[in-house]
Amino acid sequence: MNFLVINIKELIQAEPKARLKVCGKQMSKLPIIKDAFLYVEGGRIMDFGPMEDMNTKGERYFSMSTKIIDATGKYVIPTWCDSHSHIVYAGSREKEFVDKIKGLSYEDIAKRGGGILNSAKLIQKTSEEELFEQSMVRLNEVIKLGTGAIEIKSGYGLNTESELKMLRVIRKMKEESSVKIKATFLGAHAIPSEFKEDHEGYIDLLINEMIPVVAGEELADFIDVFCDKGFFTPEQTERILMAGIKHGLRPKIHANELALSGGIQVGVKYGALSVDHIEYTGDEEINCLLETDTMPTILPGAAFFLNMPLAPARKMIDAGLPVALASDYNPGSSPSGNMNLIMSMGCINYKMLPEEVIHAVTVNSAYAMGVSEQLGTISIGKSASFIITKPIPSIEFIPYSFGNNVIESVYLNGKLQ
Ligand code: NIG
Ligand code: FE
Repeated sequence: MNFLVINIKELIQAEPKARLKVCGKQMSKLPIIKDAFLYVEGGRIMDFGPMEDMNTKGERYFSMSTKIIDATGKYVIPTWCDSHSHIVYAGSREKEFVDKIKGLSYEDIAKRGGGILNSAKLIQKTSEEELFEQSMVRLNEVIKLGTGAIEIKSGYGLNTESELKMLRVIRKMKEESSVKIKATFLGAHAIPSEFKEDHEGYIDLLINEMIPVVAGEELADFIDVFCDKGFFTPEQTERILMAGIKHGLRPKIHANELALSGGIQVGVKYGALSVDHIEYTGDEEINCLLETDTMPTILPGAAFFLNMPLAPARKMIDAGLPVALASDYNPGSSPSGNMNLIMSMGCINYKMLPEEVIHAVTVNSAYAMGVSEQLGTISIGKSASFIITKPIPSIEFIPYSFGNNVIESVYLNGKLQ
């Protein structure tokens, strides 16, 4: 199917030569074409430019078979890339939410068998089919909210059988959904209760049993470790990452959410594609990230939901770093996958400019999940995965109108969702 979107008020992230990531000051400048068209064929972006080019190109594109979509007053933007999520989970954890309101901390809840271990118990009891159904509901919801790519982690299984169950569910979601999905093995999300007194035993299981099977069955693209106070130490993280790398899994890690844990340094040392959370980031961590291939990724939903200190986004960008934003959609610390809300939080809480948050949820988050070739910008040959907004006054209006839906339609690979 071919179609032409015409009279677009502004075509956002329109880049003839797509950038892989956008750093520092560049993050506040968005490539925009005003009064633009976008031509799609076979699910790919084939051409775009100012409407005045229609004088010369019109004959070619306005053929009988071309469907025309008039976007007068509307913005066209690449779909959001959500580079960090845990949307495959069973049930929900609103009881812990109430415990937190009453004063317990995330760590208190984890210590008494709640938190991640609670989700692990639920996953172990849930069938693969049921887990798939529950996860697809969430996936379909986030598509409507503009998400066109999502990274999904295991990590609520915490034994070989259940970790594989989660990863098979992610694989089935990849097969059945038009959303681009990347899978991450996060067996090192927590120490399961049976290994409470034998952490090394669990690390052995991860390295010698789980990672080889996961990689052998090609169930994951990346490896993740929760490198933080009370979870995995930098030294344990190194060993797990090395095993993953040996099996072809690039690291993407949970780092510095609860403390200056050394996680950022370990991630950089092992060439992580991203280090995520990073609430605890000081000058040393910023310097360590400069000039590397690791994308610092902030998860505003988790910091908001857990009332945690905020990652120093402004300082990072001002130092010349790129920043990506992702939802961290999970039942314990961020039960929402609404990337529009994440953008508003980026502006309101982290003092990022609207242009910066748009970079952070498109080109930079596409990089952070390894999908830059197909997504993240409006560039020729990339997937025709884009959002058409409702008529809105400006691009700043998107993060400004927090909690409201400014999206009129979502196209994934050229198909209206
Ligand atoms: O990214 N920080 C570690 N893991 C998740 C939380 C998981 C949970 O509480 O269920 C996160 O925030
Ligand atoms: Fe997470």
